[in-house]
Amino acid sequence: MNIKITNETLENIDTQAVITFVINKDFNHSWIKHKKILEDVNFKAESEDGILLAENGYIYVGCASLQSDELRLAAAKAIKILKQTSYKSAKIGSYIENNSMGALIEGFVLGNYEFTRYKSKTEPSKLEEIIISTESYNQNTISLETLNSIKDNAQIIANAANYAKEIVNTAPYDYTPIQMAEDALKLTSIEGITCKVFDEKFLEKERMGAFLAVNRASVHPPRLIHVTYMPKEKSKKRVVFVGKGLTYDSGGLSLKPSDYMVTMKADKSGGAAVMAILKGAAELNLPFEIHAIIGATENMIGGNAYKPDDILTAKNGKTIEVRNTDAEGRLVLADCLCYAQELKPDLLIDMATLTGACVVALGEYTTGIMGYNDRLKHELYRAATQSGELVNALSFNRYLKKLLKSAVADISNVSLSRYGGAITAALFLDNFIEEEYKDKWLHLDIAGPAYVEKEWGCNQSGASGAGVRMNLYWLMQQNQEKDK
Ligand code: BES
Ligand code: ZN
Ligand code: ZN
Repeated sequence: MNIKITNETLENIDTQAVITFVINKDFNHSWIKHKKILEDVNFKAESEDGILLAENGYIYVGCASLQSDELRLAAAKAIKILKQTSYKSAKIGSYIENNSMGALIEGFVLGNYEFTRYKSKTEPSKLEEIIISTESYNQNTISLETLNSIKDNAQIIANAANYAKEIVNTAPYDYTPIQMAEDALKLTSIEGITCKVFDEKFLEKERMGAFLAVNRASVHPPRLIHVTYMPKEKSKKRVVFVGKGLTYDSGGLSLKPSDYMVTMKADKSGGAAVMAILKGAAELNLPFEIHAIIGATENMIGGNAYKPDDILTAKNGKTIEVRNTDAEGRLVLADCLCYAQELKPDLLIDMATLTGACVVALGEYTTGIMGYNDRLKHELYRAATQSGELVNALSFNRYLKKLLKSAVADISNVSLSRYGGAITAALFLDNFIEEEYKDKWLHLDIAGPAYVEKEWGCNQSGASGAGVRMNLYWLMQQNQEKDK
């Protein structure tokens, strides 16, 4: 789907369909040409509500305000309606206030995603082009050239999120650690990106006993994937992302009940997100050195499986008592975080579908942010909100920290209490963060929003690419601040 911005008036653009947003239920705006019909069919223009007037090709979508995220949602809704028609082209007037053009375009691209890989009969969308008119828009404030570069960035960001969705939605039979490594290697076709893939021999040599234990009962060997983006200009900052890449989480011997195992193909969402962020950052030409480290493995059962009662030794020498093999993500991340700190990052961000407790705490649409640095948390909170992603901070405290004590090893892989599980998981990771990186580290628990089995916001049922947009927004903002 091609998106074009033009200075042509809306009337002079020839397309089969017309998209009109009804802002704040105001049916009296001059762009609303079918007030009577809309009233007759009882269209209330609630936000995320849309209707197609098939006779004339008009699509009306409710949009609560001109705020970026409202426009993003309305654009996604409009595309979802358009995709069900046979229209090849659509036009829309600009609802641009300050920087909402990017959000509008992101909405179109995000809403256009569809996961069809396993459908034997699919009808490809006929939609080829969306044309945005800058009519009624003060061209003295932003030139067409600037708008086009906003458009390019928006497409990169939304396509990166869609790229993560495709990885996460792919079935575990097809998406093994080796497949993940192959996809990471493919990213090297983008300028500035290189990739190293490490196998189990490397993990043994590096004494990554926690990561290796999780992999033991899987027929698929593990991979530690390290993708790097080096900017053309001299980098001011080194940002290292670490992603949980559990291509399947059965729970291991602490086996998940059947109902909870379904959707655990999505336990690779952190890994998919960090790959997508790297792809997006490279395409945006950001002036930072960025690394994505993915711990890719399955968590399975079998005679060879790691067990509750096993004691593991992580890369940093700490011993871990396994009390629940389903708390495997933190084991993989422990070793990957140790590896990541060897790169001497200025910022260290890990992303993981780490705990069901985070979903209980915040609901399934919100990412939990944890870490010591309030400024970093606040910055990410702001960027996430602008990107249309929901986040909320969960705070550490000394009492929760004590709950990870073990009688037989340095630390236990689960808390003594079932309350506060998202935070105790993060505090487990904290044991693998060296003192000098404590203030540079953030942990994002994306267990809720990464995969939701119903349509919500700009997202389709299934993977949402959680964490991708917020981090790309954040990196772009860091870049703007750098320029100041
Ligand atoms: N991958 C799961 C967490 C998860 C749950 C992600 C729901 C997405 C949706 C993780 O490995 C897990 O099983 N965590 C356990 C930890 C517990 C054993 C301390 C959990 O959350 O129940
Ligand atoms: Zn688990
Ligand atoms: Zn898991």
